[in-house]
Amino acid sequence: MSRAGALKRLKVDVRQKSFQSASGGTLHVIRGLAFSLQSGEVGALVGPSGCGKTTLLRIIAGLDPDYEGSVALPDHGRLGFVFQEPRLLPWRTLEQNVRLAAPGASDATLTALFHTLGLETHRNLFPGELSLGLARRVALARALAVEPDLLLLDEPFVSLDDALAARLREELAELVSFRPVTTLLVTHNIDEAIGLADRLFLLSESPAHVLAEVPIPRPRVKRSAADLATLRAEIAGKLSQA
Ligand SMILES: Nc1ncnc2c1ncn2[C@@H]1O[C@H](COP(=O)(O)OP(=O)(O)O)[C@@H](O)[C@H]1O
Ligand SMILES: [Mg+2]
Repeated sequence: MSRAGALKRLKVDVRQKSFQSASGGTLHVIRGLAFSLQSGEVGALVGPSGCGKTTLLRIIAGLDPDYEGSVALPDHGRLGFVFQEPRLLPWRTLEQNVRLAAPGASDATLTALFHTLGLETHRNLFPGELSLGLARRVALARALAVEPDLLLLDEPFVSLDDALAARLREELAELVSFRPVTTLLVTHNIDEAIGLADRLFLLSESPAHVLAEVPIPRPRVKRSAADLATLRAEIAGKLSQA
């Protein structure tokens, strides 16, 4: 593997990623998966469960160096990562969890973030006192507080009820429009991907690769049911041709 120097865009080319199984076999998880994102673009990786999405994000984040290929991060490469589970330190308050990850964040930055995410009145609670929805908000605040150059989101709204997930999506869209950041969102929810992303990358079953790329026209406004149906039909068409 190699991690190329700073570029304006995120450029991912994972030629091969495999795991050794307990029985001694080799599990090929990713093969020939390549895509890039322009600075400030929001990309969504949409693929079936178990196809290798979390594995890919860990590679991009530099948490797993054991692969063949290359990853070039945008600009300074400061990274915000929202993991599939919120992963908060249970013995620290909500505010301490965020400050630990972003010691350089100003009070004004944190106050604005907590305000947008509806966390002001919860600053001094411990993670055990938070609902899953609140814990996911804290995980978002923690990732954004570092003012990342690249934001990685691993199914950040999974297992929330529809209304709450929709509200959090809107909050995320607002935050990203406020301070554009190159963002890669992993989801298996096509509507979520359409609602948030500029570009969809449809992934195959494992070993994962990009089956099709679907640009989503801006502005990223609330789409009508008819617009959504058209986009869904286009995506279904690409998947059936793949
Ligand atoms: N550390 C690991 N060791 C062995 N197999 C793994 C490991 N991590 C993930 N896998 C396997 O790799 C495949 C892809 O996993 P993952 O990236 O978590 O999928 P996704 O996030 O798309 O649901 C799965 O079959 C999973 O069991
Ligand atoms: Mg996953």
